[in-house]
Amino acid sequence: GKSGYDHYMLKEIHEQPTALRQCFSGRSDALEGTVTLEEIDGIPQPNAVQFVACGTSYHAALYGAAILREMGIPAETYLASEYALSPPPVSLGTLVVGITQSGETADTLAALRDAKGRGVSTLALTNTVNSTAARECDHAVYIRAGPEIGVAATKTFSSQLVGCNLLAEELVDGPRDLRPLIESLRNLPDDVQSILDTSAAEELVEEYADSEAYFFIGRGTNVAVALEGALKCKEISYEHAEGFPAGELKHGPLALVTPDTPVFAVVTGDDERARKTLGNIKEVQARGAPVIAVTDGQSDAAEIADETLMIPETDERAAPVLANIQLQLFSYYLANALGRPIDKPRNLAKSVTVE
Ligand code: F6R
Repeated sequence: GKSGYDHYMLKEIHEQPTALRQCFSGRSDALEGTVTLEEIDGIPQPNAVQFVACGTSYHAALYGAAILREMGIPAETYLASEYALSPPPVSLGTLVVGITQSGETADTLAALRDAKGRGVSTLALTNTVNSTAARECDHAVYIRAGPEIGVAATKTFSSQLVGCNLLAEELVDGPRDLRPLIESLRNLPDDVQSILDTSAAEELVEEYADSEAYFFIGRGTNVAVALEGALKCKEISYEHAEGFPAGELKHGPLALVTPDTPVFAVVTGDDERARKTLGNIKEVQARGAPVIAVTDGQSDAAEIADETLMIPETDERAAPVLANIQLQLFSYYLANALGRPIDKPRNLAKSVTVE
């Protein structure tokens, strides 16, 4: 059952500390600073990685590809529904990774089968042991989030992000000191819990529940968070929501920005990407839009923004996981305030088994 929660979605949001602990447990050595995924221990380093996925899992794949590129591995992300019909070139040593919570999404299976048909090695990053994706791929890695009932993916997305880190560290040959990453992944469940205990997302909803649209911006790995924030918002609240890489705003979407369109700016760390996003915050504020910064306080985002949703400070790989939790909560409370059937949004199915 729902263990006293009004919806499975809220229950599953609150299960994230446990889900993340399960995903990470037994897969690292904090003293040695190493990560091991037993399922694929010893897998050769790929020359290139192509991710295929749909929806929320596609956003996790964007994050996964971004971290692999930072590690020097050419990595691209494809919507599974595009991949099989417009197959990108592959070469010897390409690995195709399907990210799929259910392991049964028809489009993702079709993309993986296409890759296999072209002689490419395939790997499923999935939540479901013995799913079709897990059985058909050459390799399977499990995110161990536990069953997810709500149609909106929540704890499985967070676990996919952690899974991407483990996968990347296993795939890319060392030596590297992973102790800081391991430390931050180990602290992640507590950091998530502190957000669940203190989030201001529900109060924000009271202020913004009758907006015309909701926009979400971020850069780097936070692009995935912005896109996911918008998808979650539209699918359960039925409100118009869109996510953009922050730098794209001025190439079109800025025309939609008004005092009636709150903009969620995901700003973590204090690097060049964060500083550029501060510039984008000012651009939308100049058009009268209220800005809600989702931030760890390292940059000036909290000072500049109209509202803030704070996350604990952590390393840059873990920060997107935390930022997304705040956006999950906002979408949940918005949909709840609007009286939507949160666990079963209209027109949507948990597992999309038709192409
Ligand atoms: C959104 C959502 C969907 C799924 C998509 C892929 O909340 O759940 O967008 O992410 O249908 O499903 P899987 O991961 O099972 O392949």
